[in-house]
Amino acid sequence: MRDLLDYRDRFPILAETTYLINHSLGAMPGAAEDRLKEYAHAWNTRGVRAWEEGWWEMPLTVGDQIGRLIGAPPGTVSMHQNVTLAEAGVLSCFGFEGERRRIVYEEGNFPSVRYLYQAARGAEVVVAPDDEGVVEAIDERTLLVPVTHVLFKTGQIQDVEAIVARAHEVGALVVLDAYQSVGTVPLDVTALGVDFAVGGSVKWLCGGPGAGWLYVRPDLAETLEPALTGWQAHARPFAFEPEQDYAEGAWRFLTGTPNVPALYAATAGYDLVEEVGVERIRARSIEQTTLLMELFDEAGFEPGSPREPARRGGTVVVKVPEFEEVNRELAEREIIVDCRPETGLRLGPHFYNSDDELRFAVEQITELSRAAPAGAART
Ligand SMILES: Cc1ncc(COP(=O)(O)O)c(C=O)c1O
Repeated sequence: MRDLLDYRDRFPILAETTYLINHSLGAMPGAAEDRLKEYAHAWNTRGVRAWEEGWWEMPLTVGDQIGRLIGAPPGTVSMHQNVTLAEAGVLSCFGFEGERRRIVYEEGNFPSVRYLYQAARGAEVVVAPDDEGVVEAIDERTLLVPVTHVLFKTGQIQDVEAIVARAHEVGALVVLDAYQSVGTVPLDVTALGVDFAVGGSVKWLCGGPGAGWLYVRPDLAETLEPALTGWQAHARPFAFEPEQDYAEGAWRFLTGTPNVPALYAATAGYDLVEEVGVERIRARSIEQTTLLMELFDEAGFEPGSPREPARRGGTVVVKVPEFEEVNRELAEREIIVDCRPETGLRLGPHFYNSDDELRFAVEQITELSRAAPAGAART
């Protein structure tokens, strides 16, 4: 088996930086550039014939590769511009009239998703503080339950099983945002029984922007007719019929012309994640996040991520004094992390990061935050 550090040369940016921001934008595999050249070559040499030579099907062929990473059967995952649009497609399958028009929403969800549900006409949005609160809030009035597998602010893994069990008990449907888990925390949508799952490619999948995905439980998909629709969702798109006749499976969730270059670029990252294997990445990620937490403890900083590895995703957050300033100075030193207002610095190592890089980053953070004015820690 290849040593994980042998993969470093597949990601050119690692030669220049200490790259610990994989919860935001995973490192670009060098192969993504080759894939983009392939795209340009097909466009240039095959012209319009490229559509029937693979471009038209790409939202599903690429979706099948995501499917392999999330335990979804072939033909159940479609590719979209981003999570917001994937969830907009889900939302557009439902009307919010009558008794069952509640959306039980978890506060730690990504804000873009919240804006979307709050804008749904007729829906009554109930915001629950955490996963336990979501379970408590679900009742017969609940239609949809949008929750997140790994919270973006704290890296905390949510108890999705308990949420699905409660939702299904009362006939509600769960929409799982797995953006912060896929590629670093194993996910099996079939075993979990979630109704919908969404995610994107920029983070742990190292696939770049423009390649969001949507999984719909196959037996449920057949019953849905999304209002956010277009000709790619038609059973016979090239007949250009005046009325919509929804295609089978994941096709019916598509809209118009797909984002072909983004789909070319994305698969280079998926290939590497598949080659290494998410179970192996997860085992290494737990070692890395545990080491980071120990190093922060030793330096006298209290990490804000869960202590229990089973509840911790791939990111460690820590609120050091003047963290915004520290973040800026780290970037000057080619150490790439980020920060969020309430949680402080976020460090997201991936399988290609070494322990030495983690030690170096914590040393630099310690030095910079000790140099910050005393008592400047934000609350
Ligand atoms: C959990 C989660 N969901 C969604 C998003 C982004 O959504 P979109 O693809 O609509 O930009 C992020 C990005 O940072 C995220 O962390």
